[in-house]
Amino acid sequence: MSETQKYAISQYHDVDEIYRKLNALIEQPIRRIREDKLKEYLAYFENRCRHSRELTDKAKKFIPGGVQHNLAFNHPFPIAIEKAEGAYLWDVDGNKYTDFLQAGGPIVLGNNYAPVRDKVIDLLHHCGPVTGLFHEYELKLAELINKNMPSVEMFRMLGSGTEADMAAIRAARAFTKKKKVIKVGGAYHGWSDQLVFGLHIPGTGRLEAMGIPNGCNANTQEFYPNDIEELKARMKANRKLGGTAAVLVEPVGPESGTRPVPFDFNKKVRDLCDEFGALLIFDEVVTGFRLGMGGAQGYFNVKPDITIFGKCITGGYPMAGGVGGRADVIQCFAAGIGGTGERAYVGGTLSANPLSCLAGYFALQEMERTNAPVIAGQAGDRLTGGLQAIIDRYKLPFVVYNQGSIVHLETSGVMLLDLKNPDKLFAEMNPRKNLIEEMGMAYMASGLITLAGSRMYTSMADTDEVIDDALRRFDAIFSSIEGV
Ligand SMILES: Cc1ncc(COP(=O)(O)O)c(C=O)c1O
Repeated sequence: MSETQKYAISQYHDVDEIYRKLNALIEQPIRRIREDKLKEYLAYFENRCRHSRELTDKAKKFIPGGVQHNLAFNHPFPIAIEKAEGAYLWDVDGNKYTDFLQAGGPIVLGNNYAPVRDKVIDLLHHCGPVTGLFHEYELKLAELINKNMPSVEMFRMLGSGTEADMAAIRAARAFTKKKKVIKVGGAYHGWSDQLVFGLHIPGTGRLEAMGIPNGCNANTQEFYPNDIEELKARMKANRKLGGTAAVLVEPVGPESGTRPVPFDFNKKVRDLCDEFGALLIFDEVVTGFRLGMGGAQGYFNVKPDITIFGKCITGGYPMAGGVGGRADVIQCFAAGIGGTGERAYVGGTLSANPLSCLAGYFALQEMERTNAPVIAGQAGDRLTGGLQAIIDRYKLPFVVYNQGSIVHLETSGVMLLDLKNPDKLFAEMNPRKNLIEEMGMAYMASGLITLAGSRMYTSMADTDEVIDDALRRFDAIFSSIEGV
């Protein structure tokens, strides 16, 4: 690492090369783990995860589906975690795992990081988690964010990324007095009525909008990932349809860069927003502070009007969300009963509570002090490089690439199927989805926890030893793929 490296990405990936490999992957038949090995992995759950099974079986009676978080689903059944420390998690049966899920992204310092935990415990002793009144750390957190991300002139703390996305588009509409919000097809921006639109698979619009009335997404639109021309055409057409209030993007590409963007993509979206008088919203729920203290906006050197935060904003402590940006825009959230009548409504009893703000302040301060985003990025580089070597050695069609500490390991390519080729989508979606479930199961039985069997986050706790040990485990799994 150079002395001055500030961002987790050491070298921007070759986007064309990644798409070439991903397209080659989905052109090939699925490569599964051999039956005998699969049986061994399944036996792990049967024999060594009995307590997890008991608990999650019981939970099905009281909790819909048995687990509450989308990421906790795991084939053949979810495991229950009882301890987290540094790079590792332990389940209720005492099994130890290297944690590449990182709670879905917020953990950059490592699990249960003591210096932040101690500050939280101290606060709980004298203040408790919440009072409903102003607390000094609300200000300290907003100042610290502003110092690192100057585009965030003002900041409103909220409860989750979902809420922050909702608030951001509300602010954009209130400010511009325009209607349409355009997102990238396939991108996830939380589960609010308006943004459950074009999820996972580009072009699918309301496919997953069960329980959401049509009108809720009437002003939400999507464009095909990286298709700047389509975006421009939509913005042009919207001039006659109430105008484009905002374009909402994840700066590394939808689903944390699962469909990566060319380096100049964000700049081009910025230019279009300026041309059409729309606001540019960066959803930095994952990238905010994980890619560096300046976020993806600092890395790409593109200034959004509004930034959405989640996850890292509290270092993994609860109520993690917030929206910030230009003072003239964010001012529309000015609190106070009997406001001016121009106020865009936001609320939340527990939003901006002392616990979340203090945890966020100390987590960000520690990340800055320790250079955690860059160290986590180096771990991501080491993991990616090691996986690539294994893939090459076994001549597998799998694709691995990373944006710093966000590591994508595609063994099935399911996320690349879409409506451009509907026959292939409908024929292959389920088998390819099953494959990543199977891979996720094999990883877990080998002591590796990933996000849905295809994505991994690394943290500052992932030393070279941690990564090399994980690579040995991946090697054993990949050596048992059919045809190796
Ligand atoms: C890019 C992005 N935006 C928004 C969200 C929603 O955040 P939350 O789960 O805190 O509601 C997520 C969650 O994974 C996300 O990845």
